[in-house]
Amino acid sequence: MEVLIELAYVLSAVLFIFGLKMLGSANTARRGNLLSAFGMLIAVIATVAQGLDLKFILLGAAIGGIIGLVAAIRVPMTSMPEFVALFNGTGGLASLLVGWAEYRNRMENWTEGVPQDDLISVIAIYLAVLIGGVTFTGSIIAYLKLSEKIGGKPFLYTGQQFVNGVLVLGIVGCGVAFVLDPAGMHTPFLVAVGASFLLGILFTIPIGGADMPVVISLLNSYSGLAACAAGFVISNTVLIVSGALVGASGIVLTTIMCKAMNRSLANVLFSGFGSGTTASGTATAVQGEAKPIVAEDAYYVLEAASSVVFVPGYGMAVAQAQHAVRELGDILEENGAEVKYAVHPVAGRMPGHMNVLLAEANVPYEQLYEMDDINPVIANVDVAIVIGANDVVNPAARTEESSPIYGMPIINVDYARSVFVLKRSMRSGFAGVENPLFFNENTRMLFGDAKASIEALVGQFKG
Ligand code: TAP
Repeated sequence: MEVLIELAYVLSAVLFIFGLKMLGSANTARRGNLLSAFGMLIAVIATVAQGLDLKFILLGAAIGGIIGLVAAIRVPMTSMPEFVALFNGTGGLASLLVGWAEYRNRMENWTEGVPQDDLISVIAIYLAVLIGGVTFTGSIIAYLKLSEKIGGKPFLYTGQQFVNGVLVLGIVGCGVAFVLDPAGMHTPFLVAVGASFLLGILFTIPIGGADMPVVISLLNSYSGLAACAAGFVISNTVLIVSGALVGASGIVLTTIMCKAMNRSLANVLFSGFGSGTTASGTATAVQGEAKPIVAEDAYYVLEAASSVVFVPGYGMAVAQAQHAVRELGDILEENGAEVKYAVHPVAGRMPGHMNVLLAEANVPYEQLYEMDDINPVIANVDVAIVIGANDVVNPAARTEESSPIYGMPIINVDYARSVFVLKRSMRSGFAGVENPLFFNENTRMLFGDAKASIEALVGQFKG
């Protein structure tokens, strides 16, 4: 039986790995998700088959399953980041509870000191509880900020890093005391639990709401590490493997997001970006005048265009313009134009934000182009239509060394023959910097809500 269970664990680990690999492409992501879920089912069956008390397991699975199912059906696509934050938080809490329960179970064995063989378990218990606690409260704050139940502005105060440093030192101190004498060290253990909750809150509140996707990805990684530690506590191979996979993929995604924003992780975590002290005022004031255009005139240009690229950004999500964009894309294609959709890796406010919206509107995958694929051909494009994007098409990132976004790779729409920018005003985007694109000779501003503007263009084509 034991061999069968281990084999089942190996099979589920293999399915997790293949599932993760398939998440790398929009074409295979759905199947990858299902494959990983199937792997998890095998892991759960193998664990239950070890003769556990089914009563509580079934009860827990039923309650959790129903909550998860209802939440997953009801949550709108745009609320996915805060939903993931809650998932991470509960994952962290579960690891904390596993560590705590195992500590209570084993405490009596350690009254005469910890045997050498149990040392790893004691360290793993402490880590599972600690990382789980930080993940839990950090994720709750991330959820509250993203869902705007509390203010999204970074909360900064003098001596913040000092307070966090003291807390970390205290946690390390309690950890050493706990590992040396776990049976007699109930108080440091409880203090560490409280401190980990506090650290999760203090670590997350100085980070602005718009940076929360990066933080959620990092907390996702933490929840994996906590699960991995919990796996060592209860000697469960598949928990160790899946926790390590989540830990590693979370940190990879965090790094990708930071790179795409040309910011270091330390800058995201500690600079209070968005508090008004870091982002604005550093870029040189842009000279010139923006040239507005109305839908009727824009229509004549589009009618004659033989290639059009849509570049969506956060404003398309706000306006929920994706279906109208798809309709306009179809009309342009029927009119003989080659239509592409160019997606910047950090357009919007969460990884894959634009891909999700465009997929919802059934934009064909083969028309989606990543930044690195569209930039080499953008000079041959007749019209680039920027839909509520700002920072991800800001040429200051290429040229303006004093700009906070200097060095961030952008979609070079300014190289296209004509550029239409659809937004409501001249206001800046997330980074709070002016955009010289709006003042270029070949740029026209189509002011208004993105959905209304696109619908107006569709209306023109329909006569
Ligand atoms: P932004 O630079 O934030 O610009 C969005 C623009 O959309 C705004 O300038 C706004 O202008 C316009 N807008 C808002 N509502 C609109 C509506 N209803 N209709 C038309 N336009 C509307 O967006 P972006 O170009 O997508 O860049 C994303 C930014 O977020 C980057 O700085 C990135 O680093 C940051 N960020 C991204 C992520 C991820 S993972 N995607 C994570 C953290 C941070 P008006 O107000 O004038 O309309």
